[in-house]
Amino acid sequence: MSAGLFVTLEGGDGAGKTTQARMLEDWLVASGRTVVRTREPGGTDVGVLIRDIVLHHRGDIAPRAEALLYAADRAHHVASIVRPALERGDVVVQDRYLDSSVAYQGAGRVLDGDEVRQLSLWATGGLLPDLTVLLDLDPARARARLDADDKPFDRLESERDDFHARVREAFLALAAAEPERFLVLDAARAPEELGADIRARVSALLA
Ligand code: TYD
Repeated sequence: MSAGLFVTLEGGDGAGKTTQARMLEDWLVASGRTVVRTREPGGTDVGVLIRDIVLHHRGDIAPRAEALLYAADRAHHVASIVRPALERGDVVVQDRYLDSSVAYQGAGRVLDGDEVRQLSLWATGGLLPDLTVLLDLDPARARARLDADDKPFDRLESERDDFHARVREAFLALAAAEPERFLVLDAARAPEELGADIRARVSALLA
């Protein structure tokens, strides 16, 4: 048992995870908690290099290689940042974790979701979040938000619409399989309302 609290945010691209992570961090800090806000891929120096490969490499990456790269990023991140923070008693607020691998590499690509999950569990020594917030959003709506942002698309964001629909279904299936760990929210709602729901759940876990 760790002393801290491990909260992850999941959902498709454009669901608003970064905004919610920032709001949650601000509230936790104002309540006197020490927060480590981080993300995958790319939460460490090694991770930044891996992130560049998985998101920006121009050629093909074999599906198993891609899954291993995300798992390698995760292994190093958990060992060097997340576990030490939890052992100190900090709250870790993290943009994406193993559910993203199951959803994107498992359902979106051709790999078996259970195998991808087992790979991540091996990589992290079995670390699961205390709470996973799933910001669920219709991919067409998410795409409109990404278009409005005017950022260049990375490899996954530029996948076809049916890929994003499969990823969404995979996230919802993961949440249904572990209802105690997941809080599923309709990401089309106002950010302030979503933030209040997240704070309510986190408060209950910290109490
Ligand atoms: P993210 O950092 O959320 O993107 P951005 O900063 O551009 O909003 O995630 C980058 C991409 O990585 C996203 O499309 C999902 C993908 N991803 C996986 O495919 N598997 C994983 O295990 C993780 C953590 C992310």
